[in-house]
Amino acid sequence: MITSLIVAADENDVIGRDGDLPWHIPGDLRHFKRLTQGHAVVLGRLTHESIVARLGRPLPRRTNVVVSGSPRGEADAGAEGVRWERSVADALATAEALERAAGTDEVCVIGGASVYRQALPFVDRIHLTRVHVRVRGDTRMPAGWLDGFTETSRVDVPGEGESEGDGPVPPHSFLRLERVQA
Ligand SMILES: NC(=O)c1ccc[n+]([C@@H]2O[C@H](COP(=O)([O-])OP(=O)(O)OC[C@H]3O[C@@H](n4cnc5c(N)ncnc54)[C@H](OP(=O)(O)O)[C@@H]3O)[C@@H](O)[C@H]2O)c1
Repeated sequence: MITSLIVAADENDVIGRDGDLPWHIPGDLRHFKRLTQGHAVVLGRLTHESIVARLGRPLPRRTNVVVSGSPRGEADAGAEGVRWERSVADALATAEALERAAGTDEVCVIGGASVYRQALPFVDRIHLTRVHVRVRGDTRMPAGWLDGFTETSRVDVPGEGESEGDGPVPPHSFLRLERVQA
């Protein structure tokens, strides 16, 4: 079983602003979809809520294992494709069990910062979209988070003028990193 962490971060490791992503990069959303569809994804309650606010529903075609310390209301508890867990360790265990039952073998940790921080010791692989800008933000990855990982692949994507009316797309790189075996 592989535990992967999937994140987009700017040059200063900023990943969020006002509860949302600080950029709109359609190519990265497609990349994220390719990596995660058909897998169990582990995410914090705030990231889950920001996805539901954006899409009007949880991420489709993935089981969303959401971490929250609060008991869920009935509406949430019954949402299709969503499982609630009370700790990151429980969420990872549930996601692994779901992967095994489905015959797949890659649990995807998809944020936000608090869940990344707690899951990092268990992560084997990082899919990092490095966004080559320095944005204003309020959420970032923990210091030293890439220590102990080595880059195994990289695809550089140039910036674009405009995208679907959402402003310029900054240059970015799709990186894959693996934990260095001791
Ligand atoms: N750039 C990217 O790739 C990326 C990816 C994902 C998210 N983000 C951004 O990151 C930001 C959100 O990150 P965040 O750190 O503020 O929030 P988060 O990690 O998404 O969610 C935090 C919540 O998760 C629950 N939680 C976390 N650890 C827990 C534990 N050990 N036990 C029980 N519950 C736990 C708590 O929910 P309760 O309050 O319900 O107890 C906590 O309030 C947003 O701006 C989002 O857009 C960026």
